[in-house]
Amino acid sequence: MAETGRRRVLTGDTPTGSLHIGHWVGSVKRRVEIQETHDCFFLVANLHAFTTRADKPEEIRQDCLEVVRDGLAMGIDPNKAAIFLQTEVPAIMQLTYLFAMLLPYNRVMRNPTLKDELTVKGLEDNYSFGFPLYTVGQTADILAFRAHEVPVGEDQVPHLELTREVARRFNKMYCGVPDKAPDEDHVELGGVFPIPEADVGRVGRLIGTDGVQKMSKSLGNAIQITDTPKQVRKKLGKIYVGIDNRQPTDPGEVDPEKNPLFQYVETFIESPDEVADLRDRYARGDNIGDGVVKVRVAESISALLEPMQERRKQYESDDVVMDILHEGCKKAIAATEETLEMAKKAASLQFFDRTVTI
Ligand code: TRP
Repeated sequence: MAETGRRRVLTGDTPTGSLHIGHWVGSVKRRVEIQETHDCFFLVANLHAFTTRADKPEEIRQDCLEVVRDGLAMGIDPNKAAIFLQTEVPAIMQLTYLFAMLLPYNRVMRNPTLKDELTVKGLEDNYSFGFPLYTVGQTADILAFRAHEVPVGEDQVPHLELTREVARRFNKMYCGVPDKAPDEDHVELGGVFPIPEADVGRVGRLIGTDGVQKMSKSLGNAIQITDTPKQVRKKLGKIYVGIDNRQPTDPGEVDPEKNPLFQYVETFIESPDEVADLRDRYARGDNIGDGVVKVRVAESISALLEPMQERRKQYESDDVVMDILHEGCKKAIAATEETLEMAKKAASLQFFDRTVTI
């Protein structure tokens, strides 16, 4: 447990540039809540971005600032959570190397998320050594903080499983934790690492405004947090409603699995009564076409975005974002140096004390 007695949370993202409402729904909203009750560390996984974009370092650097700026705009509070860059935390790199020794090569390559990425990105046999290594690096991102909880989307669960395995193996091999010890007893039994738990969000995946693919800036189907009410209305106007050639007054499909518009209704309209009412009237074709529903959803989304856009103004300057990152990196370094020292002691690697300053 951290000094505050609160449970520790570590999570992060590979920086891909500005954020959209899919990120809000899928992860950032949860972070804004959890920062009130937990000691939170939010990582910008800039090294992971090098797995596929090693030739575009300057672009990755800009993406880092942008992702932090948008996170702050969405309500992540730098006084409550530490926001930091992976590459500024040397303990993560050192633990990655050590953990790689505890994992059979074939175990790393069996990770289904890794396999998927290699297929989706068309990399087949043509990937860097660093590509599979990032999964081991991710175990270090988490364990370096001795995190208890890791809020993530479904696709990250295999990485969490790998992390749990590494933690168990380390605690057993170097800290005398007995073989059959239950996960929740590891620290009490002398283990350095708590066995972290994945906290998988309810809405993993918001459909984009094309109504087909996951929302993604690069697919051009995203509502960005900087979009004006007019842009939001326009984008929603195009969304597919689940039935081809429907007359505007015909009864519509309300199952969010079949009608993406209703995924938006359920996600962005806060009052359950209003959601039920819209669903009801739409299903009966009661004088309510797609347009009416779209306008209501657009209003709700713009009401959500307005305070974000207002907040974002404070963070427009790169210097302000850099100062916040500097503070976050200092906190991350302090927390992880403590872990590294514990791990080095356990593995008979502690020869000298050190202080890392930035
Ligand atoms: N792999 C994650 C993603 O692409 C980002 C990430 C890196 C992460 N390190 C992490 C997530 C540690 C949770 C915990 O989204």
